[in-house]
Amino acid sequence: MKDIIILNIKELIQVEDSPRLMVKGAEMAELTTIKNAFLHISNGLIASFGSMEIFGDKFNSRQLDNSKIIDATGKMVFPSFCDSHTHLVYPASREIEYVDKIKGLSYEEIAKRGGGILNSARRLQDISEEELTCSAFERLKEIISFGTGAVEIKSGYGLTTESELKMLRVIRKLKEISPLTIKATFLGAHAVPLEYRFRQTEYVDLIINEMIPMVASEELADYIDVFCDRGFFTVEDTDRILNAGMKYGLRPKIHANELDYSGGIQIGVKYNALSVDHLEYTGDAEIEALKDSETMPTILPGAAFFLNMPYAPARKMIEAGLPVAMASDFNPGSSPSGNMQLVLSMASILYRMTPEEGINATTINSAYAMDLSREMGSIAVGKIANVFITKPIPSYQYMPYYYGSNKVDTAILNGVVECVN
Ligand code: NIG
Ligand code: FE
Repeated sequence: MKDIIILNIKELIQVEDSPRLMVKGAEMAELTTIKNAFLHISNGLIASFGSMEIFGDKFNSRQLDNSKIIDATGKMVFPSFCDSHTHLVYPASREIEYVDKIKGLSYEEIAKRGGGILNSARRLQDISEEELTCSAFERLKEIISFGTGAVEIKSGYGLTTESELKMLRVIRKLKEISPLTIKATFLGAHAVPLEYRFRQTEYVDLIINEMIPMVASEELADYIDVFCDRGFFTVEDTDRILNAGMKYGLRPKIHANELDYSGGIQIGVKYNALSVDHLEYTGDAEIEALKDSETMPTILPGAAFFLNMPYAPARKMIEAGLPVAMASDFNPGSSPSGNMQLVLSMASILYRMTPEEGINATTINSAYAMDLSREMGSIAVGKIANVFITKPIPSYQYMPYYYGSNKVDTAILNGVVECVN
C-alpha cells in the first residue's frame, strides 16, 4: 500500500501529541490545530504530521516519489466522524408514519397502534439477509461520503430470536465488506412484540434465556442495548437484561431518558455502560449519577429535531464537568439521516455548543462511546488513518455554520482513498 502525504493543508484539525480517551467539561471547548500543515499516512496509520515549515527536512525525494501526494491547498483535514449510535440496518423507510406525525400523532401513539419499531419488525421477518446487507451497504457508502469513519449499528428490528440473529449476521457481513470500522450492538429489547403485549416479562425472559446466549455463542455483538423508557422497558427489565449480558461480557450502551425521567441513566451507570444515549430528560440527579462514572452521555440531535422533542441539556452537562458525545441515531423512524455534518451543525444551532465542542462531541467523545478512542477520533501518531479532506473552506467554524451541504471532498479510511465527492 502506497504512503499518502497530504500537503499544504490550510488547517489540520484536532491534533494530539498526547492522545486522550475523551474530553470533558471545559476541555470540550479546546481544539488543537496546525495551520499550513502536512499529514503523512503509512500502512493505514497516521505516521506523522506537522507544519509545512518542517516538511522539507522530514522527507527526501525518494520518499516523495514513492508516495501518493495530495495537495490540499485551501482545504482542511479532519479526523473522520465517529457515529456511535445507529440503526442503519432496516428493511424499509417509514415516511407514511412521518406524515401521521406531521398531522399530530406522537411517537408513542404510533408505537401503540403497532407502527414504529413494530412496523419495521414486521417487514424484517420476510426480507433476506442479502437484501438487508445490500441496502445497508448503500447507506454505509453514503455516510462515508459525509465523512464518517466508524459506526455502531444495532439490531432491534427483529424481536424474534431468528430475526435478531439475522440482523446481527448482516452487521457481521458489513464488518467484512465495508472499509468503515463497525461495532455491533444487540438490541432485542427495542420494543415489546405485539404477541407479548401483556406478557412483557416473558419477552424479557426470552431475551435473557434464548437470545443473549445465542448472540454470545456466535460472537455476534460487541455491546448490549435496552430501550429503557416510558412505554418500553422498565428499569427492572433493564436490570435483568444487563445483568444477563454482563455474564457474557456484553457491555451496555443504552437508550435512556428520551421520553421521561426513566431511571435509564442511573441503571446504565450502575452497569458501567459505555454510553447512555438520547438524554432529553436529564436533571440534577441524572447529572450527579454520571459524574465520576466511565459512561459517556450521548446526545442524538437528529431524533429530538425530527420528533420535535425537548433538547437534552447539553450546556448544563458540560458546565457540570461531564463529557458529551453526539451521534446520528440513523434509523427509519426517528432520524432518517446519518449525516454527521448535520449533527455537528445541530450541536451549535440546537444545543448552543461551540464548533470546538461540537467537533469534540462527534469525533473523540463519540469514538470513546464505541471504545475506539485509542484507535481514532483525533489526528495522533499511530491512530488509524481515518480522515477527510474538506472542500476549500474559510475556517473550521464554517463546518457547522454552512449546514445542509456536503463539505467533504475526499474520505480516506485505513489509509486508502475511499471516496472523492
Ligand atoms: O433511537 N428510541 C428508540 N429507538 C430508535 C427509534 C427506532 C425507530 O423508530 O425505528 C431511536 O430513536
Ligand atoms: Fe436509537
